[in-house]
Amino acid sequence: MSPTFELKSEHRSMSIILDALEKAALEMQQRKNLDFLRLSQIVEFLWIYNDGCHHEKEEQFLFPAMLECGSQWTADTICSLSEEHASLREHLRGIENKLREYQQGQRYIQVGQTSFILEYIKLQKKHIEIENTLLFPLSEKILSPFRQESMLLSFKNLEGNKVDHVKHLEFFILLSNLYTESSAVEPTISFFY
Ligand SMILES: [Fe+2]
Ligand SMILES: [Fe+2]
Repeated sequence: MSPTFELKSEHRSMSIILDALEKAALEMQQRKNLDFLRLSQIVEFLWIYNDGCHHEKEEQFLFPAMLECGSQWTADTICSLSEEHASLREHLRGIENKLREYQQGQRYIQVGQTSFILEYIKLQKKHIEIENTLLFPLSEKILSPFRQESMLLSFKNLEGNKVDHVKHLEFFILLSNLYTESSAVEPTISFFY
């Protein structure tokens, strides 16, 4: 397994989460009662796994290694992707706040809530597409097999520190449930380090 294989697997898990979030946004538009337990699990996944673990793997290890190649295009692309990580973090904070307001019965702000969620989904999907199609193939070309191997070990250590065994299991169950409820691709998050 290569570092980018692992990151792409995490992107596939993200697509399951994003589909579920989109479904919730549509239910919100229709003023349906939302499953807040499920939504809080999704937001927790986005904070702990996506922001705290996946983005950290990219920012701490993949991006710095790729910057060493000295290409201006790579530097510009990584700068833009890092800014998007920060923007996604801000959006997620906003989503959390809006969901809290919705839960407290303030359904009159539903249009703002859903557009905020849909914007986050759109940004995240575009971000994943750029990494999958441009950045990751390039990294496979420019990073030596030894560098990729040691990066994979760094990923494993980071993930072990950020997500404990119980939380891994909870995320696995969440993804499995969402997968069986949808026609999304099979969850491929890396578990049980
Ligand atoms: Fe990223
Ligand atoms: Fe990513």
